[in-house]
Amino acid sequence: MSVLVENDGGVALVTIDRQDALNALNVETLTELRDRLRELAADDTARVVVLTGAGEKAFVAGADIKYMGGLDPAQAKGWGALGHEAAWLLEEMPKPTIAAINGFALGGGCELALGCDIRFASTRARLGQPEIDLGIVPGWGGTQRLARVCGLGVAKELILTGRMIDANEALRIGLVSAVADPVVHHALGVARKLAEKSPLALRVAKLLLNLSPGALDREAEEFGDLFASADAKEGLAAFAEKRPPQFTGK
Ligand code: COA
Repeated sequence: MSVLVENDGGVALVTIDRQDALNALNVETLTELRDRLRELAADDTARVVVLTGAGEKAFVAGADIKYMGGLDPAQAKGWGALGHEAAWLLEEMPKPTIAAINGFALGGGCELALGCDIRFASTRARLGQPEIDLGIVPGWGGTQRLARVCGLGVAKELILTGRMIDANEALRIGLVSAVADPVVHHALGVARKLAEKSPLALRVAKLLLNLSPGALDREAEEFGDLFASADAKEGLAAFAEKRPPQFTGK
């Protein structure tokens, strides 16, 4: 089991644990995460959900790049849909969700954090959407949610450069609301306060805050289509082979 759920007094702590790959999400781990989030969405005893990564180094270092290297466009669309569902559950479940970003939150890891209602980071956290350096694009909501959270200008700069940022910069651009160590304690403290509020009012507040349009379907479509390109194959293979990619525009 690589996704652990502990429910304590109405606060559910979800820990993603695949530490040998910096908690990168493969099909098994992502499916397990999606299933646990579905259960928590329907579980009235869980009033608030906190998401974190196991170990000292990573929240989630992204989707599993080695797995993605073998996907064709149809498979990539299915993979994108699974990630979208997990992020959507975090965003839409009728209770607050909080990301406790304890290390690397890259690519799909940053996108899962963006699906959460609130984000906190440890001083060691590193965040970013580095997909461009793999010859692909964010495919689990990043192109829409990063722009909604930080503004279009910041989102364009981060997604087009693929640059990684530290916790202080994340705080400055509004990607996280606070930097604290240990971040999971800080997140659980806030979660316990939320668990004392009216669940009905929290549900409606979240529903209203989420009433803004996006283009998540278009993102899912374009993400899958890119897997037909030589550049995506090259970018994904280069990571596994530990060498810089050579992009040709094909
Ligand atoms: N998918 C698959 N495996 C990953 C991974 C990912 N997203 N991120 C890290 N890993 C694996 C590494 O391949 C390595 O495995 P190995 O020991 O079998 O080679 C292990 O996790 C440890 O990572 P390593 O790169 O050795 O750690 P580091 O501290 O030198 O670097 C990162 C950390 C996060 C900077 C680096 O791992 C990285 O760039 N990861 C990819 C991030 C990314 O592009 N994510 C977006 C994907 S859409």
